[in-house]
Amino acid sequence: MSSSPLLFSGSSNRALAEEIAKRLKVNLGKALVSKFKNEETRVEIQENVRGREVFVIQSICKAPNGNGVNDAVMEALLMIDALRRASASRITAVIPYYGYAKQDKKTKGREPISAKVMANILKVTGAKRVVTMDLHAAQIQGFFDIPVDNLMAMPTLCNYLKKEGLCDDRIVVVSPDAGGVHRAEIFAKRLNCSLAIVFKRRPEPDVNEVAEIVGDVEGRAAIIVDDMISTGGTLDKAAQAIRRRGATQVYTVATHGIFAGEAIDVLESSEIERIIVTNTLPFPNLEGHPKFIQLSIAQTFADAISRITTNRSVSELFGDDISPFDIAAPEPAAV
Ligand code: R5P
Repeated sequence: MSSSPLLFSGSSNRALAEEIAKRLKVNLGKALVSKFKNEETRVEIQENVRGREVFVIQSICKAPNGNGVNDAVMEALLMIDALRRASASRITAVIPYYGYAKQDKKTKGREPISAKVMANILKVTGAKRVVTMDLHAAQIQGFFDIPVDNLMAMPTLCNYLKKEGLCDDRIVVVSPDAGGVHRAEIFAKRLNCSLAIVFKRRPEPDVNEVAEIVGDVEGRAAIIVDDMISTGGTLDKAAQAIRRRGATQVYTVATHGIFAGEAIDVLESSEIERIIVTNTLPFPNLEGHPKFIQLSIAQTFADAISRITTNRSVSELFGDDISPFDIAAPEPAAV
């Protein structure tokens, strides 16, 4: 039996899947991923997978070909189902961006727990393991009864910041909300910076207001650290508040660049100098937007896949001083 992993990709972030495959020195498995004329998702695995260790790489997000978030879910599920029925020995769902994570608890009556629904359908369909990155809330791991490796973009993002010289006691790392404090603390420790916290209120979904800032930002360059950028509102408002408090410059880093709606324009005209994200989601066309930087986390996924395939530790990838398993704390309920 071949020990090299077989990698398959849906359409949501094929560029990342190709990069991961290249770094593992394998080709992506042959599969047809398309739609029937009636818009239903159509999948066909086009090579033998019997007895093989397989990885299905699919971010839960919009695809460059126009397919929506829900198409990404269906593609992943149908690929997993097809692989299971074709007798793959173990199927790992590699979900660089785990969508549907924002509703991870009931904040009021009659709400779903969407992150749990995702976990249920992945498992029931046949995933035996999940590899993801910077879950919106670490406890989502507990929604699965199968192993979950929650990788971190932090080393990649910190290396970039260090190369740019953004790593000494003249810099302050800022969490844009209470839920992100633990993540920001880890960055501050890695970069030898101090820490500040913005407390935000969400009067309604996708809208936020800054309530208070704790910590000293005056006369310092600030790096706001977040897990995701959706509408850009959180970062825009946090940057305005920090600048009003006397920060000299504002940079932002986030793992997942969703850039929903008008986010690019909001951030382009914001007080933020540079917006740094990774390629867990495909980047929109940003020609003429020099503020935006995208870093690749393909090597982190390639390393994790290689270690899983050979039964080696995945947490070793992130050093001894932090746990990759508790980096994200839940955002408090909207108030
Ligand atoms: C919240 O808990 C997250 O960490 C992000 O701050 C938030 O989802 C970003 O959303 P937006 O860009 O729409 O403000």
